Amino acid sequence: MARLAVLASGNGSNFQALAESLGAIEGRPHECVLLVHDRREAYAARRAAGLGIPSRYVPYFGRGAREAETELAEALDQAKADIVALAGFMRILSPGFVKPREGRMVNIHPSLLPKWPGSRAIERAFEAGDSLFGATVHLVDSGVDTGPIIACASFEARPGSALAEIEAMVHAVEREIFPRAVAGLLDAVDGKGRRP
Ligand code: GRF
Repeated sequence: MARLAVLASGNGSNFQALAESLGAIEGRPHECVLLVHDRREAYAARRAAGLGIPSRYVPYFGRGAREAETELAEALDQAKADIVALAGFMRILSPGFVKPREGRMVNIHPSLLPKWPGSRAIERAFEAGDSLFGATVHLVDSGVDTGPIIACASFEARPGSALAEIEAMVHAVEREIFPRAVAGLLDAVDGKGRRP
């Protein structure tokens, strides 16, 4: 069994998709052991409560990122997380936090990277007149949405599609590819653990 921790700031639909997929995929006895949220009112925390997954609020507001990251690291260590998934976590993690976890941290981004890294990705692609949309799963490095890509999926938007429609389709793609990619990482960790 491998242990997943998820970091989220808001809605948490990807967190929920991850947590539910782990329970649903037979023969993959991995566990989502922790949700960390940096906003007190994050809806993701309510989802965690509903799913029976422990959650921890690690605020950034009113103190330095370094202090917040120290607490974040403690929470992940205490939970013995093998893999950390960033699912709408709206903070840039410092190289000091990322480096020791490289290869074990994964992020979902709502664009076809390397196009449109950063915030408001779907909106910016839409405003630029893109017709091809999608989502990307990548390992986290010290840049913003720059790490090695491990999965992506795309679709062609119907001409004249509204932004809201495209957003909904991108989110549906995310909930498809993220659980599969994360399950692959958990399997790999688990496989390593079992090797003599
Ligand atoms: C997703 O679009 C994800 O790609 C981006 O933030 C959004 C989070 O959505 N990084 P949710 O909180 O998982 O519903």
